[in-house]
Amino acid sequence: MSTAPFILVSPASRGVGLGLTRHYLRTTSLPVYATHRSSDPAFVKSHILDAQGMDDSSAERLKLLGPVEMTDEASIKNAADKLSAELKRQAGEAGKEGAAYIHRAWFCAGILHPEKRFEELDYDQILKTFKVNVISHLLAMKHFAPFLPPRSSSSEQGPAKWIHISARVGSISDNNSLGGWPSYRCSKAALNQAIRTFDLNLNMKKIPALCAGIHPGTVHTDLVDGGAFWHGPDPAHGKFELPDAVERITSVVERLQENQRGRVWDWKGQEVQP
Ligand SMILES: NC(=O)c1ccc[n+]([C@@H]2O[C@H](COP(=O)([O-])OP(=O)(O)OC[C@H]3O[C@@H](n4cnc5c(N)ncnc54)[C@H](OP(=O)(O)O)[C@@H]3O)[C@@H](O)[C@H]2O)c1
Repeated sequence: MSTAPFILVSPASRGVGLGLTRHYLRTTSLPVYATHRSSDPAFVKSHILDAQGMDDSSAERLKLLGPVEMTDEASIKNAADKLSAELKRQAGEAGKEGAAYIHRAWFCAGILHPEKRFEELDYDQILKTFKVNVISHLLAMKHFAPFLPPRSSSSEQGPAKWIHISARVGSISDNNSLGGWPSYRCSKAALNQAIRTFDLNLNMKKIPALCAGIHPGTVHTDLVDGGAFWHGPDPAHGKFELPDAVERITSVVERLQENQRGRVWDWKGQEVQP
């Protein structure tokens, strides 16, 4: 069966997801499906396209899926249903036999409630952190996995790559000195287990795709800016402006091999130990 590849980025409104969406519009000729939770898709679209290197083709290839509230399963499922309907419509229009499948998928949802001490832990904040950082990723696996290539298919470009943005602080073996951010840390450790488990599942089903996690370094986005953790780029110590981080992590993902599946890799291409 022939397949038409596409990119999926969720969410794409800000930060790393926005940078990745622009990167794929700029550097590929593939359709890019991007989720957002705004009630103003025209604004989201113009914001994504308001960057260097965007042209008419970028505008045509950028397809928004939304609004998607990551703490609501019905909302995530609704986006997957919209994607399915859109792909069927396009296949019908083109009279194609083959279907469109994910080539690269990035799941970026994450929030940080930066508790310094255990006394600062708050039930609602912990719950929200786990809803966004873990549960939404599990539900993306549930609802978007059907868009991966089927086991009967093959691609000259190798396996599809399904990536979750994790963080080094999710590593238990690396947690030796500072501690801190317990809810975020625990959520990323749980996400890493979800990544491993989903990858095993893909492998068992012989789906031509691998799942992995990426630690992007410290990236200048609202996540760190709002928390005043940003004191300027310092690439030697893993601190990057957004375009630099995106170049590095997409390059790591392009180089990922079968024997690296199910694990978490940093912006240098080195493993973040579990
Ligand atoms: N920045 C860093 O230094 C760093 C380091 C390590 C790991 N990470 C990870 O990288 C990922 C991306 O972080 P970032 O730095 O790009 O953060 P960001 O700039 O704060 O962007 C967060 C994104 O998540 C979306 N989002 C948050 N809660 C949502 C919800 N309930 N429903 C729908 N969308 C929601 C936001 O959408 P709206 O625009 O609608 O709010 C926004 O698109 C996260 O998983 C983070 O943990 C970041």
